[in-house]
Parts: sequence; C-alpha cells; structure tokens
Amino acid sequence: MTAYQKLVVYYFSGTGNSENVAKWMADIAIEKGMEVSLINIGKIARREIEPPELETLVAFVSPIHGFNYPPVMLNFLFHFPKGHNKVLLLNTRAGMLIGKWITPGLTGIAFYFSALILKLKGYSIQSMFPVDLPSNWISVHPGLNERTVKYLHERNQEKVYRFARNVLSGGSDYRGLYEIIQDTLVAPISLGYYFMGRFLFAKTYYASADCDNCNLCIKACPVKAIKKVDNRPFWTFNCESCMRCMSNCPKRAIETGHGFILMFSLLFSLLLSGLFYTYFAELFFDIERTFTGFVLNSAFFLGILAVWYRIMHFAMRFKFVERIIVYTSLTKYKFWGRRYKALKNTGK
Ligand SMILES: Cc1cc2nc3c(=O)[nH]c(=O)nc-3n(C[C@H](O)[C@H](O)[C@H](O)COP(=O)(O)O)c2cc1C
Repeated sequence: MTAYQKLVVYYFSGTGNSENVAKWMADIAIEKGMEVSLINIGKIARREIEPPELETLVAFVSPIHGFNYPPVMLNFLFHFPKGHNKVLLLNTRAGMLIGKWITPGLTGIAFYFSALILKLKGYSIQSMFPVDLPSNWISVHPGLNERTVKYLHERNQEKVYRFARNVLSGGSDYRGLYEIIQDTLVAPISLGYYFMGRFLFAKTYYASADCDNCNLCIKACPVKAIKKVDNRPFWTFNCESCMRCMSNCPKRAIETGHGFILMFSLLFSLLLSGLFYTYFAELFFDIERTFTGFVLNSAFFLGILAVWYRIMHFAMRFKFVERIIVYTSLTKYKFWGRRYKALKNTGK
C-alpha cells in the first residue's frame, strides 16, 4: 500500500553515493506503483523549480560536506518554492568498516538547518535518514578498498529499501535525531568549514603533467568550478570538493596538493610573524580573539592563498616544480590515492 501518488527525489552527488540512494528510493516507489521523478540538481536551472503537486512526496538526498549539506544543496533549498508537502531528508556520509561494524559518519547541522529552511516554507518533515556509504574524501584519508566499498554498498542498499518501504507507506523515520549530541558538538566546525575550510580545500586541487587536456573535469564539474588558465585546469573558489573530477579523470592526473598546502601554511605563518607582527602587532593582537578578527584573518589567509595558487599554477609548467608538488601529494601514492566511485546501482 502506498500513501502517495508520486515521489520526487532531488539529489546532488559528487561520486555517486547519493545518486544510488535516490535510485534505491525510486526502485521501491516503482514497486509500489508510484510515479517517480529523479532530479539531479547539478543538471537543472536551480532557481526555476515548480512547486510540487499536492499528493507528491518530496525527498532530498545529498552528501555531507564538513558536517552540513554542501552549499549547492543549501542554495537549492533556499530557492525551493513554498509548499505543504511531506518531505524526506536523507544524507549520505562517510561510512567505514571495522570488522563487520560500519562506523557512522557525522551529519552535523545538515538535517536541522535544512529542516528549518523547509519548515519555514510550509513543508512537513517526515524523515531524517543518514546512510553510511563509503567515504569519498581521499584528500583527508586513504581511499577505501574494494571489499569495504562492496560491503557498505550492499548493506546500505538493503537499509534504504527497508526505509523506503516504511516511509512510502506513510511511515516516518527520524533516526538522524538520535545523534543530536555528536551533531551539536561538531556544529561550530561546520560553520568553520562553510566560511573558511571549503575555500581552502578548493585550492588544494591541481592537474599534474599527466593531464592531456581532455576537459572532462571541466565539463563534468556540477558547480562549474574548474576553468582553463594557461591551457590547464584551474580550480576556483566555487569548488565544493565533491571529488567528481578526481574520481573521473581518465589519466589520474588530478591530485590534492598536501605538500603544496603545507608549504603555503609555513610561508603564511612566516609572513604573519615577520611582516605583520612587526608593523601591525597591536592591531592583530587586539582583533584576533574577536569574531571580526577571525573573519579578517580568514579573508586575509584566503586572499594570500589565491595569489599563491595562481603563482604555483604558473610555476608548474616547470618540470622540477611540478614533480616536487606531485611527489608531496599523498593522493599520488598507491597506499593512499585509490580513487572512489560508487558501485553502479544494480537495482533490485
Ligand atoms: C569535502 C568533503 C567533506 C566531507 N565531510 C563529511 C562529513 O562532515 N561527515 C561525513 O560523515 N562525511 C563527510 N564526507 C564524506 C561524504 O559525505 C560521503 O562519502 C558521501 O557519501 C559522498 O557522496 P556522493 O558520492 O554522493 O558525493 C565528506 C566528503 C567530502 C568530499
């Protein structure tokens, strides 16, 4: 039995986990004879969405980035039209495996913040459901092995099917709320990531000399964050670190520049201690413990980072600079740099 005539799933996905969850929801909706629309928000004009029809159940699926939904999904929710439908909030996040135990990721403020936005628009939240699929964030941890990826995929497919059978029959599932304590604890970090961290990460990606200018990364980027500068891919601050470019590059030429960013951090500290503490020490001591001080320091940091990134982009045309950057990138190495792409959805 189904409580709704139609299911519309809006999803964003960098490497395929959230897309799989959207498809698994669709599998069960079809089984129940419902009409289904799957809408990839990376492929539509995000500000021209029609309000959902009355008997439609609306679902949003997105990865967690920095303990929140990524900006592309948050912007989508901000611009989503008002309505009175029932809504399902789902996320996919960093699952890992210890023995047979799937360690959960961390949702942070994603559910609370998006529930608030949608509530204010008139919607009624029917579920908050996290799905712990393999983590794709190989900028910060080694890529997961095939066995782990397969295990997490299969276990979560069953879990999403059970969830879908329940909610499509009119049930609700708020298990995302059980994690309110850890989610609250990481809430400050989610703000730090939103206002600062994501811009820092955006400037850690580069294409090595293996890049053959096929432009796939530029074409496939869901937020149009990569452009050509000096005939090579160049990551702008719009990048949301969804990892699609790294995971798709046929030449495996896209890396996270760990050495590159470490070098920058050292230079930046030197710059601050030398130049600024000599001339503006008073100013910096006074403001650095205030919120304004934090914002000014962060803006200054990112400004200098943008200049540094541009200089390195130019300098990488020289082989020895390029090699230093490549060999100080952990993603270059076998033990770390296994690229992640979700397994294909096999259906039921
Ligand atoms: C930039 C970035 C930040 C992430 N932050 C978190 C996080 O805060 N909590 C978490 O559990 N997983 C985090 N992850 C892991 C992803 O949410 C997870 O792998 C997700 O399933 C990827 O979905 P997709 O394949 O649809 O893009 C992060 C991944 C990336 C790339």
